[in-house]
Amino acid sequence: MLVTQQKVLRRFWYALMPMSMLDDGPKPFTLLGEKLVLWKGGDGKPAALQDRCCHRTAKLSKGFVENGNIVCGYHGWTYDLNGACVRIPQSRTGAIPDGARVAAYRCQERYGYVWVALDEPLQPIPDFPEEGDPAYRRILQFYEKWNTSPLRVMENSFDNSHFSFVHKSNFGMIDNPVPSKYEFRPNDWGFEAETHVPIRNPPASFRVTGTTDPVTERHLINRWYLPFSRRFGCVYPASGRHHIIYNCATPIDDKTIMLAQWLYRNDDEASCSTQELIDWDRPITDEDRDILEATDHDASVDIRRKAEVHMESDKPGLLMRRMLFELLRRHGEEEVFNPPAAA
Ligand code: FES
Ligand SMILES: [Fe+2]
Repeated sequence: MLVTQQKVLRRFWYALMPMSMLDDGPKPFTLLGEKLVLWKGGDGKPAALQDRCCHRTAKLSKGFVENGNIVCGYHGWTYDLNGACVRIPQSRTGAIPDGARVAAYRCQERYGYVWVALDEPLQPIPDFPEEGDPAYRRILQFYEKWNTSPLRVMENSFDNSHFSFVHKSNFGMIDNPVPSKYEFRPNDWGFEAETHVPIRNPPASFRVTGTTDPVTERHLINRWYLPFSRRFGCVYPASGRHHIIYNCATPIDDKTIMLAQWLYRNDDEASCSTQELIDWDRPITDEDRDILEATDHDASVDIRRKAEVHMESDKPGLLMRRMLFELLRRHGEEEVFNPPAAA
């Protein structure tokens, strides 16, 4: 699936970057091939415009913020958050020519991130119930570019059979490779999938899992949010600790995503510190990245080419493809993908 070619994907919200990255000025971000500039306006809220000045095309992300507006770094033309040019420093009369504006995009802050929708959204930003609940703390874990497709990240995150291999050096059980079954519950956003997974619990994870048992269990209530966000809803029944991860695989272009990952925990710093939680998930995330960057980028939705389920853990990815295929069909689109390589 060539994500930049599927118009309906422009009608979803995506997490682009942590708000804190805008503290020292505007930043560029490419979303579905569209070059954007993000900045923090006078009221502290984020704004997103096309990253291209309408005077002589300089990138506005090279400019600076003044009184909540963005100033082009080339000749100082200034734009408000609606993209209207509000000042041309060289003008003797102060007149602004008709049509002096750049495209503006819907932009909001949520969960410590800047979210953008390029076209009229089909749904609001997903509601993550742990946010704002005093039982939880939120930890921003990772923000990094991966050379893979967002569908590859989504299918991997519901694939129970990779644990035993990709993650064999930490929690995966290579001697127990048959994956546990999911119970699927479709919903307005995609689906929820529940299962119980046995895991290894080496000493390095005792404070993460809250137990010293050498083998323990994860009770997972995972959710997929169309098109490319997911909840890893992990509870360790032995301790009652929650380890709830949200991932957004935000599509930059047809070969690259920005992985945004944050975590909610229902314990405190004394039980397991922020740094311990980042350090624990770091190698696991690197292992996923390493194997996903070694797959074909073209994770086609085309279920005629994906008709086979080889094993139980292929089912979530197939279900995602069916739902994405349906979404395209409802909006009158065909899937665009690279032709299969010649045999
Ligand atoms: S190119 Fe932006 S002000 Fe001239
Ligand atoms: Fe993984």
